[in-house]
Amino acid sequence: MNSPPPPSHLILNKEAFRKKVERLHNLPTLPQLMKKFTKMAEDTSTSIASFGEEICKDQVLTSKLLRLVNSAFYGFPGRISTVTHALILLGIDAIKGLIVTTSVFDNLTPEAYPLWRHSILVSLACRKICEMLSIADIEEITVAGLLHDIGKVVIILEAPDEYHQVLKHASQTKTPLWKTEHELLGFDHAALGKWLCQQWKLPDKLSLPIGYHHEPEKAVSYPLRSSIITISNLIVNGMGESLVKGIPLENIPECVAGQLSLQEHHLEKLVERIEPEMEALKDMGPLDLK
Ligand SMILES: [Fe+2]
Ligand SMILES: [Fe+2]
Repeated sequence: MNSPPPPSHLILNKEAFRKKVERLHNLPTLPQLMKKFTKMAEDTSTSIASFGEEICKDQVLTSKLLRLVNSAFYGFPGRISTVTHALILLGIDAIKGLIVTTSVFDNLTPEAYPLWRHSILVSLACRKICEMLSIADIEEITVAGLLHDIGKVVIILEAPDEYHQVLKHASQTKTPLWKTEHELLGFDHAALGKWLCQQWKLPDKLSLPIGYHHEPEKAVSYPLRSSIITISNLIVNGMGESLVKGIPLENIPECVAGQLSLQEHHLEKLVERIEPEMEALKDMGPLDLK
């Protein structure tokens, strides 16, 4: 079968799309809450309980957050009963990432659920790698894994028809999605994700690894975190859990292998550890958070 010819022009008007996204980042609650947190964090005397009180003012957000941290996915099933407890266990930056997760993923329609499933599996793989290699900041890296494709979520929400064309072209040409996005949109979801996280006032330690998860060699800051997300994403794609099926797997970038000193047997062990948990997460759609 002949590959379709590459389109001669970008299918999305960048400016129009940016305007749409700006409207999205003006969603009620999210930006205001994040700005407030950033301000509170600047004051070193702010207590964990004050952050908790701020979150609890929004009952819907509070219940979504507690459902997520108590879910089978998160690893503390049924054990966290208050936001303050979650803040103590996970830290404020991880909780900020989870607030973005619940606010944005919740808007996905059922046909995009594979993206949610892919994201929780990448997050799970990040957690397992941190455990296996005794890497610190496990909660932040786990949340960065959960958010790594947030740019894709926003493109799907804001430009579903155009993204459908991107998915189709990637599948027909068997080209990785991020490269197809470059070709058809002029940007990729990783760069968009980084920009969104910065708009939402998430710290660089979350936004930068998200921004470089397909090009970890460009990650000047937080290269280890970028490498963990890159390899987790490749492992999960390799397990067949990706948005577009049938695209040949990309090689593990040399810089990632160097950063993590992962051997073949590590990868096999990782897959063994992730597989049983995948089954438990089989039917977990974003609506479970409501
Ligand atoms: Fe990605
Ligand atoms: Fe991904």
